[in-house]
Amino acid sequence: MYDSSTPPSQWISIFSREEGLETAYTHNMTATLIASKNGTEIIHHRLARIGTMGITPAADWNELESFYLLTGSLRVTYGNETSILYPGDKLVAAPVHEHVCIVAIEDSEFLYVSSAPVFQTYRESIDGFHELAVQIALKDGYTASHCERIRRYSLMIGCELNLNATDLLSLSCGALFHDIGKIRIPDEILMKPGKLTPEEFDIIKQHTIFGRDIMNSPENPFLNIGSKVAEQHHERYDGSGYPYGLKRDEIYLPAAIVAVVDSYDAMVSNRPYQTARKKADAVREIVSLSGKLYDPRVVDAFLKVVDTFVDED
Ligand SMILES: [Fe+2]
Repeated sequence: MYDSSTPPSQWISIFSREEGLETAYTHNMTATLIASKNGTEIIHHRLARIGTMGITPAADWNELESFYLLTGSLRVTYGNETSILYPGDKLVAAPVHEHVCIVAIEDSEFLYVSSAPVFQTYRESIDGFHELAVQIALKDGYTASHCERIRRYSLMIGCELNLNATDLLSLSCGALFHDIGKIRIPDEILMKPGKLTPEEFDIIKQHTIFGRDIMNSPENPFLNIGSKVAEQHHERYDGSGYPYGLKRDEIYLPAAIVAVVDSYDAMVSNRPYQTARKKADAVREIVSLSGKLYDPRVVDAFLKVVDTFVDED
């Protein structure tokens, strides 16, 4: 109840559109804490197209989670079930028992209300993400936009294949950090301009194992879910890949997706001739290797979405 003896500044605060109590940013998401009291938080999110947000169930988590979509559209996968949310739609889970993967079909804004504080965890995982992304960029010369492009294309294929929420989150995280193991490979081998010796190539192959270990580390709990993708992204359908020579269904499907996207991206990125030609040639080459190097299910899904890829950089 409003007490007229209390000056207005003590019972109400007004923030402009860009202001909040705290804001956390990633390359494709802005999360602004707009209210927090007694453990309940209201967070406003902007998620760019194909941006992803995940919720991981915790054993002791027994809280109410709800989403209210303001603009855009979201593809929400809870366990194996997928629904599309439009403005005004709500999603309520109390509590969350399985992974939830939210993918923005277009640029979207939504409110996330949690009955337990989550914003600080967000902040920590976002900071950890950034730190590792910078390390990869420094080591490999890859830009953040390259890694994000691999993530986005991979996720489009994963949605086309109707992966469950756990696999979609694994794919999103694993695709973004698939080459993180390279930070443990000596520069003189990684940057060597000429042909690698067999011994040097054996060392390069280790980036898959190093990647798995870095992502599995308890120091990076927010990356654990993507470790299998880092470990298997150089496995090939016919068993000719590394580090284990896995074949067909032995290969984790999200890793098989990153294998196709990483190869495609290398084909369209590294050659200095016309983009449209490069794209058509790359698609033809991927198709010609379907059932050989690449999982045919992945190639079929790739063909359905490749026209919407924007190779912007
Ligand atoms: Fe790699």
